[in-house]
Amino acid sequence: MGDTAPVVGIVCGSRSDFPILEKAQALLNEFGVPCELRVASAHRAPDLVARYAETAAGRGIRVIIAAAGGAAHLAGVIAAKTMLPVIGVPIPTPNLGGLDSLLSIVQMPRGIPVATVGIGSAENAALLAVSILALSDPALAARLAAYRASQTDAILADPSNAEPLG
Ligand code: RP5
Repeated sequence: MGDTAPVVGIVCGSRSDFPILEKAQALLNEFGVPCELRVASAHRAPDLVARYAETAAGRGIRVIIAAAGGAAHLAGVIAAKTMLPVIGVPIPTPNLGGLDSLLSIVQMPRGIPVATVGIGSAENAALLAVSILALSDPALAARLAAYRASQTDAILADPSNAEPLG
C-alpha cells in the first residue's frame, strides 16, 4: 500500500506459501489496510522470527497473520514473543493435507493463544484482522459491514435461491 506503514504483518515459513498468503494481502488491500508480507521460518531462521515478533508492535504492526505448513511452529513462536494478536493460517501439505499444520498451530499451551483459521483460509485470517482493527476504526467497520452485506445480497439476488411461493 505505497508509503503507508503496515499495520498487519503477514509472515510465512516459505516463499512457497505466498500463493495462499497473497489472497490475504489482496483482501487487506481491498479494505485499505496497509500490510507487509515476509518470510521468517521458525526452524530455518528462528532468530529472525524472534526479532520480527519483538519489534513488530514498535513499528506500528497491530495484528500478525502467521502461516506455515507441516510442523507449523511459526505462529506459536511469534505469539510467545509479542502481545499483539496472532492469527495462524495452516498451510495445506502434500502428505497430510494440512491437518499436521492445523494441529501444530491450534494446540497452543494455555496462556499463549493463537487464533487459528481453517486450512488454507488466508482470506478469513485477513477478515479477522480487519474485525480486530475495526474495533477502533469506525470507517473500517463500515467497510466490513458493507462487505458482509454484499455477501448476503449476492445470495438473495440469485433467483435460484428465491423462497418458494405459496
Ligand atoms: C513450512 O514448510 C513452510 O511454511 C511451508 O509451508 C513448508 C514447505 O516449505 P518449502 O520446503 O516449500 O520451503 O516451513
